[in-house]
Amino acid sequence: MASVLQPGEVAVDATVGNGHDTLFLAQQVGAQGHVYGFDIQEEALARTRRRLEEAGLRDRVTLLQMGHEHMAEAVPAAWHGRIGAVMFNLGYLPGGSDRTCITRPQTTVPALEAALRLLRPGGVLTVVAYRGHPGGPKRPKPCGNGPKRSTPTASWPPVMPSATDGDRRRNCS
Ligand SMILES: C[S@@+](CC[C@H](N)C(=O)[O-])C[C@H]1O[C@@H](n2cnc3c(N)ncnc32)[C@H](O)[C@@H]1O
Repeated sequence: MASVLQPGEVAVDATVGNGHDTLFLAQQVGAQGHVYGFDIQEEALARTRRRLEEAGLRDRVTLLQMGHEHMAEAVPAAWHGRIGAVMFNLGYLPGGSDRTCITRPQTTVPALEAALRLLRPGGVLTVVAYRGHPGGPKRPKPCGNGPKRSTPTASWPPVMPSATDGDRRRNCS
């Protein structure tokens, strides 16, 4: 990831959770870059917001209370085919109040397909899947070895987005 995602790029954290990956992506894209972060739980977004504020990187990230299956609607069209990296970390919110609120195949699969369309040539998609909980084994099976790279389709460079958060609530069900 660190060798692919360059300063000034735009990245997506499809499951912000406690914000560890969001913070990593925000550091990686630098002051000129931007990150879109998705989670359906306000609890996760609040934790991530706090983590980013403590690091002084809040303005590099747009946090969206929205299912990642809607990422193509939420990420501006100008960025489609130009995203440097998309990260998925499947499962429940560690330390959260509702361990039954987990990622599910019926939304994860469309989100993965959307993510592949958003990536730039040579962009990287990572999926981390924790199988040690009741919903874990239901996740899509791995479909290859190592990170998935996109095929060349888009031009460069795009225009930077502004850091405006969104709140299109989705329930966990
Ligand atoms: C394992 S945690 C992510 C951990 C995170 N990457 C971190 O660094 O702490 C999985 C997260 O996915 C979220 N989630 C579940 N369904 C989702 C969906 N459809 N879209 C976006 N996030 C979802 C959960 O609320 C949970 O916070």
